[in-house]
Amino acid sequence: MINPKLKTMGEQFGRRSWAEPWKIKMVEPIRMTSREERQEGMEQAGYNTFLLRSEDVYIDLLTDSGTGAMSDRQWAGIMLGDEAYAGSRNFYHLEEAVQSYYGYRYVVPTHQGRGAEHLMSRALIKPGHYIPGNMYFTTTRVHQEIAGGTFVDVIIDEAHDPANLHPFKGNVDLDKLDELIKGVGPENIPYISLAGTVNMAGGQPVSMANVRALRGLCDRYGVRIYLDATRMVENAFFIQEREEGYGDKSIAAILIEFCSFTNGAWMSAKKDNLVNIGGWLAVNDSDLFDMLRNMVVVYEGLHTYGGMAGRDMEALAIGITEAVNDDHVRSRIEQVRYLGDLLTNWDIPIVKPVGGHAIFLDAKSIYSHIPQDHFPAQTLAAELYLDSGIRGMERGIVSAGRDPKTGDHRYPALELTRLAIPRRVYTQAHMDVTAESVKAVYDAREQMRGMKMVYEPKYLRFFQARFEHIT
Ligand code: F0G
Repeated sequence: MINPKLKTMGEQFGRRSWAEPWKIKMVEPIRMTSREERQEGMEQAGYNTFLLRSEDVYIDLLTDSGTGAMSDRQWAGIMLGDEAYAGSRNFYHLEEAVQSYYGYRYVVPTHQGRGAEHLMSRALIKPGHYIPGNMYFTTTRVHQEIAGGTFVDVIIDEAHDPANLHPFKGNVDLDKLDELIKGVGPENIPYISLAGTVNMAGGQPVSMANVRALRGLCDRYGVRIYLDATRMVENAFFIQEREEGYGDKSIAAILIEFCSFTNGAWMSAKKDNLVNIGGWLAVNDSDLFDMLRNMVVVYEGLHTYGGMAGRDMEALAIGITEAVNDDHVRSRIEQVRYLGDLLTNWDIPIVKPVGGHAIFLDAKSIYSHIPQDHFPAQTLAAELYLDSGIRGMERGIVSAGRDPKTGDHRYPALELTRLAIPRRVYTQAHMDVTAESVKAVYDAREQMRGMKMVYEPKYLRFFQARFEHIT
């Protein structure tokens, strides 16, 4: 029976409803577990969601990386793999797709994003260099540090405030950057590390006006800009939605214009590009290309496969063309927002505005009684799993790691638990179930104490650290 008093979702949120521009052709069964099973699983995993077995997870929101569903066209592409060691036909398809949609001249394939980050950092960074960026990302910064560089955060202050509604919280603060360049000298800055969107800030975008102005500033000093293009398609959507003069432009047109202000990019193709594995680097400078193409054979594989199978490159080339489809990007971001709207209706604190790929729960505010070095966001991720089998991840003090100089924890302003939404995988009903579980955990917030870390690996500790409840 339809209850006439119940408004449609679209009406409740003041707009018409949207629906995914695809239908489901194949399904993968998932299973709900009992509270006892989850308790046992969590103990075995040391209260770290990265150490759970995926079979024990009901709705997996650990990451949007490599977890998307490929289309029937991409699967058809898998059958067309040319598995030649050298000169695979699929590489040339990939090269052409990157050149036409991102606009860079030279392309180097890598096994995933951090393979590309490694090559780029090693090629350009010398000990003593500074690498300014719009907030750190875990793997990006660790490669910059291993190469001898120091990352410097030059994002606008608004990005560090989860409640601030600035439409482009990923923007670079040009005054902070100018001050740094003057202070250390442009010769000590190999490049600006620019990410669109900014993962650790909540999937927040950079505006076209900001990248244009950044180009102007960098040209004055002769400093290069390299783009982490991992979620740049989602960034283009926010420009289309929010920036004057871009409402009528396609995602593809915005993407290529944005990239034109940068000297090159590295990519984790496991996100925007809709594949389960893969990455690439692309640059305009032929000398740098020569160096990267030479290094890739040492660390990843020959320069025409870079660690991917031919079939992977074919699926990736097709994924690039699907990724820029306006209807696809809109439905992907609207799904994330739908979950954000449900939580906001219950006054559960999340990072706002809702970004491109995930909901970030504000664990610092939810568990305001737990000190940051008792890991509130880690605790929240564990509680959510215990409640319903939903898996998210910590994006706070554990992810931030230790300062390599002092050895102390870094204390980021943002202490967040991320619920990342895989592309083309879950339905609106999964989002409803997720929201209700977050609400149950939120309602029990006062009973929670924090945790202590009982095992800590040296690099990227969040992946493998182990915890115990504080009693
Ligand atoms: N850059 C950004 C902005 C990322 O989000 C990631 C990965 C990488 C680079 C590294 O790429 O995983 O292919 O080696 N982010 C994943 C995440 C792990 O869950 O956010 P990769």
